Amino acid sequence: MQVDSREIDHFLVQLLAEVGKGLREDSIKKMSVDTKKNRNDLVTNFDKKTEKFVNGKIKEAYPEATIVSEEGYGDLVKDMSGLVFFVDPIDGTMNFVKRGDNFASMIGVYIDGEPLIGAIIDVMDNEIYHGGKEIGLFINEEPIDDPKNLPLVEGLVDVSAPMALSNKFSVQDVIKKSSGFRVYGSAGIIFGHLLTGKEVMYMSYLAPWDLAAGRVMCEAAGMNVASIDGTPINMLESQVVIVGTQKVVSEALKTLKTR
Ligand code: IPD
Ligand code: CA
Ligand code: CA
Repeated sequence: MQVDSREIDHFLVQLLAEVGKGLREDSIKKMSVDTKKNRNDLVTNFDKKTEKFVNGKIKEAYPEATIVSEEGYGDLVKDMSGLVFFVDPIDGTMNFVKRGDNFASMIGVYIDGEPLIGAIIDVMDNEIYHGGKEIGLFINEEPIDDPKNLPLVEGLVDVSAPMALSNKFSVQDVIKKSSGFRVYGSAGIIFGHLLTGKEVMYMSYLAPWDLAAGRVMCEAAGMNVASIDGTPINMLESQVVIVGTQKVVSEALKTLKTR
């Protein structure tokens, strides 16, 4: 299948710019908040509205594509053949509800299972991280240089709060070897930090829409995106993922206790 990755990148940037504008307006409106799997797993009317809007635009522009998305307006995607879009309408919904910043919207595009283009908007800062292996990476119009391949001892790490607090896989041993520990509560915001070298590792249990856009861009930037047990990443399942510089991920994988 032949696709024009520059054209898809342009489409994602236009779409996320529109989404960002809408969410900045929505963030100060009264919202209705429901819970999903547990009391801290939130969904608002704006998550649903945004996903419906984004998925509609994707179907209009790429009718042959299938969509994997969080809030139920996507397709039942059983394999990665053809063009697959992953949509997380609001990433960091807890931050959106409680603080009104540090939340993102993300779209990752894959072709026959291969990462193609990713785009993430830091909504309140109005910064769109986007691109892929073929076309390079950008923040808005500005090209980004690949981050340095720093070791663990020289960088800040971000681990999801539940994983760090429960010391899952002895992850605190990894944290202790780093320069310091940060928790931002939005995978999308953290992918931005990784791409700009502000942090050197992120570890979390991620659903396909949490990972898709960030994986495309972090791999394009020369970073490693690995599952904790060395099995290939499965984009149609949730899994524990470590993303970071090549040096940090290999150090982390040696330190973590997976059984
Ligand atoms: C969540 C955030 C959070 C991560 C969770 C995700 P959501 O996404 O990215 O940082 O730790 O695993 O589910 O639910 O706000 O889209
Ligand atoms: Ca979400
Ligand atoms: Ca998410």
